[in-house]
Amino acid sequence: MEAATLSRIGLAGLAVMGQNLALNIAEKGFPISVYNRTTSKVDETLDRAHNEGQLPLTGHYTPRDFVLSIQKPRSVIILVKAGAPVDQTIAALAAHMEPGDTIIDGGNEWYENTERRIVEAADKGLLYLGMGVSGGEEGARNGPSLMPGGSFEAYNNIKDIVAKVAAQVEDGPCVTYIGEGGSGNFVKMVHNGIEYGDMQLISEAYDVLKNVGGLSNDELAEIFDEWNRGELESFLIEITADIFKVKDEHGEGWLVDKILDKTGMKGTGKWTVQQAAELSVAAPTIAASLDCRYLSGLKDEREAAAKVLSDAGLKEEVGSVRSGIDKKRLIDDVRQALYASKICSYAQGMNLLRAKSVEKNWNLNFGELARIWKGGCIIRAVFLDRIKKAYQRNPNLASLVVDPDFAKEMVQRQAAWRRVVGLAISAGISTPGMCASLAYFDTYRRARLPANLVQAQRDLFGAHTYERVDREGAFHTEWTKLARKSG
Ligand SMILES: *[C@@H]1O[C@H](CO)[C@@H](O)[C@H](O)[C@H]1NC(C)=O
Repeated sequence: MEAATLSRIGLAGLAVMGQNLALNIAEKGFPISVYNRTTSKVDETLDRAHNEGQLPLTGHYTPRDFVLSIQKPRSVIILVKAGAPVDQTIAALAAHMEPGDTIIDGGNEWYENTERRIVEAADKGLLYLGMGVSGGEEGARNGPSLMPGGSFEAYNNIKDIVAKVAAQVEDGPCVTYIGEGGSGNFVKMVHNGIEYGDMQLISEAYDVLKNVGGLSNDELAEIFDEWNRGELESFLIEITADIFKVKDEHGEGWLVDKILDKTGMKGTGKWTVQQAAELSVAAPTIAASLDCRYLSGLKDEREAAAKVLSDAGLKEEVGSVRSGIDKKRLIDDVRQALYASKICSYAQGMNLLRAKSVEKNWNLNFGELARIWKGGCIIRAVFLDRIKKAYQRNPNLASLVVDPDFAKEMVQRQAAWRRVVGLAISAGISTPGMCASLAYFDTYRRARLPANLVQAQRDLFGAHTYERVDREGAFHTEWTKLARKSG
């Protein structure tokens, strides 16, 4: 084969994300080879490449032909299900690769699997990247947010490609070299955890507006459209407005009202919460969103519980709260509560990233992470530019909550935030994400917490000792003896 016919890069695994990313790469002018064990997938992709503008894409039907069709040093992206399929695909391809070639896993992989594979690849002289890809099908095709971590040399080999393929925002392409090891996967995982939080908070805003405010789907569509023109402007707010506009094709009314209230999940949110616990980082908003997905799954139990508690005399309080509602003010309050809650959720995610960065020596650049999330990905939002600037002002920011700009915004919104949460509680409408964010804020901002009492209890029953506010050292007290004596 002569050099001119070789592809610049390869992609194996032609499910939805793989096909779209391959077409995107080809469209940006980088000849690409594609491969999938299931040959119909290769043909499908070839057809699409042909139909979507004669894109420079070649299909290959064996791992060997595929690998040999790529110019050296070869870069091969694999987009298959995380876990064992990744190992199998690597084994099939690596057999034909040479030292200096690179494998790039674009799946939602657990970061430690990537770190193991980096070592295994290195034994064969191969370079490795674990690259988070966000943006779903649409993003993959037209510009995703890319989070490559691992070998810097490997990143440099594909830097020109990813810079063109990624979503473009006014301050550059939504891609940056994240760091060593599994940092790209880890950052993508936290991105997904933050996404869980955003979606939960939006669903709570919807719940309050609908059930306390009595808003119709038409009104909700209008409000989310309006919100999308202000500080909340984001992909998730935009698509939420669209969802409220869709009528049910199979019957009366709106489709959203016919959807079973059970949320699915694939595991990255759970990993985020597990990592937060592992690193002793509080992430209550993200945890609340995960818990809500779990509770949503108990549909039958919830229906049974509703009946048992209503038989036991529980009355819906929504009606009585709703009667005195000023709709316009409620809408404005919910907007502010959503924004303030979101800041706390992002603060948690960023602090989780910081803790991991310290543990692993990844040297993550938080301003850059916020920047590459401004476009392409599911959490893309105008608000991320403010986060970027907050970390540019102070790379060592302890928390977004104490960035002077965000601090001011939270203070301005706290009255509305408290009104919404208070109203929801009185109405019996659960808002676990908003409550978790508010509690996080109120706990973090208080110079003195009731933890003194917990320390006293621990010392009383377990002699765990305590420190004092007024002198150095560890102290233990014979609490019971002293209490009984004085009592
Ligand atoms: C090919 O396609 C099948 C089914 O669509 C998928 O399960 C498999 O992981 C794909 N990838 C590779 C590299 O063969």
